[in-house]
Amino acid sequence: MKRRFYAIISGVVLLVNMQLHAQSKPAEDWFRHAVSVIEQQLAGAAKTFTPGLNPRSVTPNGMVRTAPYTDWTTGFFPGSLWYGYELTGNKELLASAARFTLALDSVRYITKTHDLGFMLYCSYGNAWRITEDKSYLPVLEEGAQHLYNRFSTKTGVIRSWDFGDHWKFPVIIDNMMNLEYLYWAGTEFKKPVYRQAANTHALTTMKHHFRPDYSSYHVVDYDPVTGKVRSKETHQGLTHESAWARGQAWGLYGYTMCYDNSRNPQFLQQAQHIARFIMTHPRMPKNKIPVWDFDVHNALASDGRAPRDASAAAVIACGLMDLSTKVKEGKKYMDYAEDILKVLSSPDFLANPGDNHYFLLKHSVGAFLYNSEIDTPLNYADYYYLEALKKYAALKKITLPLQ
Ligand code: GLY
Repeated sequence: MKRRFYAIISGVVLLVNMQLHAQSKPAEDWFRHAVSVIEQQLAGAAKTFTPGLNPRSVTPNGMVRTAPYTDWTTGFFPGSLWYGYELTGNKELLASAARFTLALDSVRYITKTHDLGFMLYCSYGNAWRITEDKSYLPVLEEGAQHLYNRFSTKTGVIRSWDFGDHWKFPVIIDNMMNLEYLYWAGTEFKKPVYRQAANTHALTTMKHHFRPDYSSYHVVDYDPVTGKVRSKETHQGLTHESAWARGQAWGLYGYTMCYDNSRNPQFLQQAQHIARFIMTHPRMPKNKIPVWDFDVHNALASDGRAPRDASAAAVIACGLMDLSTKVKEGKKYMDYAEDILKVLSSPDFLANPGDNHYFLLKHSVGAFLYNSEIDTPLNYADYYYLEALKKYAALKKITLPLQ
């Protein structure tokens, strides 16, 4: 009886395995090449940099700008190592991911920014997701509480920044990204108010951050006493009325993710509107890697005055792939994202192994008008590029880690 039972179980396991195998597809050459570059670059970076001083970008004189644990970008390099491990199965990357993550322990005490989502969810969040090691949870629990504490029922939004004298309660479109951490933490730590705050923030932002064409303002400043909007501006875009490329990307990813977490159809519609704005924009270059702001008037000139932003492209690819799974006409989003990924994985954007100070992608823009991080690698371009490759593999049924 027992033998028969085990024979049946083995048969079922075999069938399931055959089924899985039949469904999985070999990766195309461009994907294999990208993963090989990723493995070499991340291994080189992990050996070169010190945990707690993570690579952020490259200065015009060729020095690597590092991010201390207080920097908003500090979580991206550890997050890239976690994703790198998932793509390659390389155990050294796994060990490095843990080392670089644990060096960010003190982020748990930071209260003065909304960027706790980027800082902790990309590092500790991935650590927990991949290892299920409970020792990663206390930092995540404390950080989420600090992020939630920045929510005001008066304004209906989470305050982004504490700096900037002329603002009273500034909220940036980027803040949409940090809601993912609150959604997750609300469930994990049984704090439904976190999820409610995330939903309210997304609804309020929908109301005040968007123009009729579904492009978004970068900064909306609220009156913390009345909850009314004081001003709509930019900080990193070309003008207050322009469409800063990464801001559009944050919005697309943000509303798709909010729909995923809430099933509120308004969020899905918003994401589709933003996708249309991006995909049909007359100044989107042919290769689908946007210039740093859609309103740079010479955006399509090939004279180098309008640098492209690979970070925006990588975030757009992530958002479009997620969106592709949620609507009937999803193929158009998937195809667009695939085009972006192929261009980012070409020599025009992807580094040669050993070059580019061990960053993966070239050609992103941090803050053009501050003359800061122009046409440089950026750690968040790399992070979202890796995330996009992972999403691509899942949707195309490419088995990871790549063999
Ligand atoms: N969160 C700042 C940026 O996107 O540059």
